[in-house]
Amino acid sequence: MDTLLITDEEVKGLLAMREVLEAVEKAFGQKGLGRVQMPAKSYLYFKRFNGDLRTMPSYLEDLDVSAVKIVNVHPDNPSKHSLPTVMAVIVLVDPKTGLPISIMGGSTVTSMRTGAAGGVAAKYLARKDSRVAGFVGAGTQARTQLMGLAEVFKKLEGVKVYDREKNAVARFVSEMTELYSGAFKIRGTDSVQETVAGADVVVTTTPSREPLVMSDMISQGTHISCIGADAVGKEELDPAILKRARIVVDDWEQASHSGEINVPLSRGLVTRENVWAEIGEVVAGLKKGRQGREEITVFVSTGLAIQDAMTAEIAYRGALQKGVGRPIKIV
Ligand SMILES: NC(=O)c1ccc[n+]([C@@H]2O[C@H](COP(=O)([O-])OP(=O)(O)OC[C@H]3O[C@@H](n4cnc5c(N)ncnc54)[C@H](O)[C@@H]3O)[C@@H](O)[C@H]2O)c1
Repeated sequence: MDTLLITDEEVKGLLAMREVLEAVEKAFGQKGLGRVQMPAKSYLYFKRFNGDLRTMPSYLEDLDVSAVKIVNVHPDNPSKHSLPTVMAVIVLVDPKTGLPISIMGGSTVTSMRTGAAGGVAAKYLARKDSRVAGFVGAGTQARTQLMGLAEVFKKLEGVKVYDREKNAVARFVSEMTELYSGAFKIRGTDSVQETVAGADVVVTTTPSREPLVMSDMISQGTHISCIGADAVGKEELDPAILKRARIVVDDWEQASHSGEINVPLSRGLVTRENVWAEIGEVVAGLKKGRQGREEITVFVSTGLAIQDAMTAEIAYRGALQKGVGRPIKIV
């Protein structure tokens, strides 16, 4: 009858990208097969504070994994409050009884499962021989996006990174170079243009509300993972790129409301017909991913509750095995 309390700091020691990537891929596949319950995220907008809060429930029926996450996005937090932009709490629930079996800090789960989603998307949508990645945005999500890509592309040779904050670039370069012991070269650039030039995979992770990556910067054959746009009004790509690309979303409802396509859709610049598939359909083998070397592919990520539930489940199992966390009788 106990509930296991696990702090975010403890969760960090319980999650490895390889395992999270496999779990997220499985979650996408289950969604493709129609085996999940996942109402679209619901939002509260704290307009005065430039922030929002989302609730994200889900149930993977065949795997009996269920959870609810609450998560905020406050882009001014790092500069104004010395807090991360994104913070989360997850309640993992036993579907059999409804008992909350664990309450855990969910910030690391969020960034790891988001990195894993980028990795899975690149696996199916990027060219297999991708060697160079260009990152626009050098914050928390950018780090786990690189971890996801490094797991999928063992021959990664170079990473370029741009952020409007030079300090963020310097921190990213030094931390990630240390993490990968110099296995591939990571360098900062002075512009979006320089970052995306010659990149096989482009990853955008900013909270921008206007396009940063323009169509003339993107060569044929590039894969782009759009991670930053996950609320109404956010966008990072020139809509002209979407017109040239095979677009795969994580979830049509969430993507049309808040993903990279939300602004161009609302302006009639793209339509539902421009969207090829949900990633779950591709993972489940119902639709093809990349269909040629010259294709531009775009993955529109908004973040799915099923990614959180599967990742939280890994952390919970690990905590039980390693004796991490504090059981308390909370209900
Ligand atoms: N798709 C998903 O599943 C998912 C999950 C988590 C977060 N997000 C979104 O990803 C975005 C980034 O989150 P984070 O946790 O990495 O935040 P963060 O604050 O840690 O990093 C964002 C970085 O973007 C930079 N930036 C902001 N505007 C920029 C601009 N115009 N040009 C260049 N750089 C700019 C900032 O300087 C910062 O370094 C947010 O919009 C968040 O809502 C998406």
